[in-house]
Amino acid sequence: MRTLVVYYSQTGNTKKVADAIFAALPRDKEIMKLEDVTSLDDYDLIFAGFPIHSHGPAPKAKEFLEKQAEGRAMALFITHASPESAPDVSHMIQRCVNAAAGAQLLGVFNCQGELARDVMDRLLESKHPEMRMFGEQGNFTRGQPDAARLARAAAFADEVLAKVT
Ligand SMILES: Cc1cc2nc3c(=O)[nH]c(=O)nc-3n(C[C@H](O)[C@H](O)[C@H](O)COP(=O)(O)O)c2cc1C
Repeated sequence: MRTLVVYYSQTGNTKKVADAIFAALPRDKEIMKLEDVTSLDDYDLIFAGFPIHSHGPAPKAKEFLEKQAEGRAMALFITHASPESAPDVSHMIQRCVNAAAGAQLLGVFNCQGELARDVMDRLLESKHPEMRMFGEQGNFTRGQPDAARLARAAAFADEVLAKVT
């Protein structure tokens, strides 16, 4: 079985998760940036990862899923600055799942990723109190995804594989 790990990552968090998943997979695997994918036809299983932007999948990832997920055996991995336990996270994840409608979805992994300094600075300058509060919370995301989260990502890869092999 041939497996592809494809990821979109602006500041490196989702790439760390992609690398952890890739390392956990047995041979006959490839890892690729989303921008470099031309066709998914050569793969039996696809792990697709991306960050949350504005409460949903980053636009490039959304477009990718809407165009390419149809009929594919797929697992999603997602990073976001909010803590996993935040009430809005399940809604954000649902929007990602909706974008992959038509895929045979084998699982979804999500974890916190550090909020980039420049994004945090922009949020802290916002005139909207809600955005400033989000920016302040960025301080609590330092170093994410950490080793524990990456270990969970590797375990997720095993769980997905167990469903198809
Ligand atoms: C433009 C932009 C919008 C974002 N919007 C959200 C959001 O709505 N909710 C959230 O939890 N994190 C949000 N984030 C934070 C990212 O999802 C998080 O830092 C992620 O781990 C970045 O992944 P990357 O390093 O792979 O790009 C946003 C980041 C950017 C740059």
